[in-house]
Amino acid sequence: MRSLVTGGAGFIGSHLVDALIARGDQVTVVDHLQRGNGHNLADARARGASVVRADVTEIATMLDAFRAARPQVVFHLAAQIDVRRSVEDPAADAYVNIGGTAAVLEAARDAGVERVLLASTAGVYGDPARIPTTEGEPVAPLSPYGTSKAAAESYLRLFSRLHGVSTLSLRMANVYGPRQDPHGEAGVVAIFCGAAAKGRRARLFGDGGQTRDFIYVGDVVEAFMTAGASTVEGELNVSTGRETTLLELASALGVRTETLPARAGEIRRSCLDPSAAGERFGWRARTAVDDGLARTLEWTLANERAPAPAS
Ligand SMILES: NC(=O)c1ccc[n+]([C@@H]2O[C@H](COP(=O)([O-])OP(=O)(O)OC[C@H]3O[C@@H](n4cnc5c(N)ncnc54)[C@H](O)[C@@H]3O)[C@@H](O)[C@H]2O)c1
Repeated sequence: MRSLVTGGAGFIGSHLVDALIARGDQVTVVDHLQRGNGHNLADARARGASVVRADVTEIATMLDAFRAARPQVVFHLAAQIDVRRSVEDPAADAYVNIGGTAAVLEAARDAGVERVLLASTAGVYGDPARIPTTEGEPVAPLSPYGTSKAAAESYLRLFSRLHGVSTLSLRMANVYGPRQDPHGEAGVVAIFCGAAAKGRRARLFGDGGQTRDFIYVGDVVEAFMTAGASTVEGELNVSTGRETTLLELASALGVRTETLPARAGEIRRSCLDPSAAGERFGWRARTAVDDGLARTLEWTLANERAPAPAS
């Protein structure tokens, strides 16, 4: 299989690239590498992955890259991922997350790609009335980031309708694991692991009773690979269906906390129902949160001692 991963140097993308190569795929990565994360691809490059250093919003470059790679499946993960940044600069967020998705879809259509998958988010639901949240719940984002991802989902459906490209958006809960940058959407695990590794207190906003659905990156990679090989279209949750409070998270990581005032507008509970993905393409998360956290902490400790090489 020829696969192309946008954002393949990132946290989730680099794990996906490693797994696709291990499966025997011919892999092309498209990433602008602006965050100095090219070292995540060291292994993949050594094992034959092609890396195109480019911005997904540049349509001419995308057309060339996709024509050269002739992928059968595209995993579109490149995005502006910072919710707070999206609030400060919604236009920049939309430019990358909507404009970049349109360019990727157009290049995919032009190159005759069979299937495109999008990395979407629980953020499209905003603060949903029902927990765990199913895909039938209204799309009602509360941030420019959630809105740009909802628009990107809509673009996938449009290209499916107009051009017959098979598309699927995976609405991921809070993904965590090795290689995660502490500034990301699910930065809390990376931040708490960093605090645990340094023996510092982790900052907790509010009473710590907020819940999130933490899903291990290895399970997310399996979801992308299984979904990529299926013909399922539309939008599906990728999650554990289990809520963990931030206090439970701190306790599992053995990190002491320092309490700060609650942040305005923070969602109290977030948990997605993963049943539909199980029914539609036979996937479920298999990593228990304690095991995933132990692996993430182990990686953080190892990397505290040995800083990552330059990109
Ligand atoms: N981490 C989570 O919990 C989570 C949850 C839901 C959805 N997502 C989505 O999953 C995807 C991957 O997230 P991640 O946590 O691995 O983030 P990440 O920042 O580690 O990875 C994103 C990658 O995209 C690249 N990129 C960003 N803008 C680009 C552009 N304009 N052109 C080319 N490359 C560009 C970055 O260099 C980076 O390598 C994103 O689309 C994100 O919105 C993540």
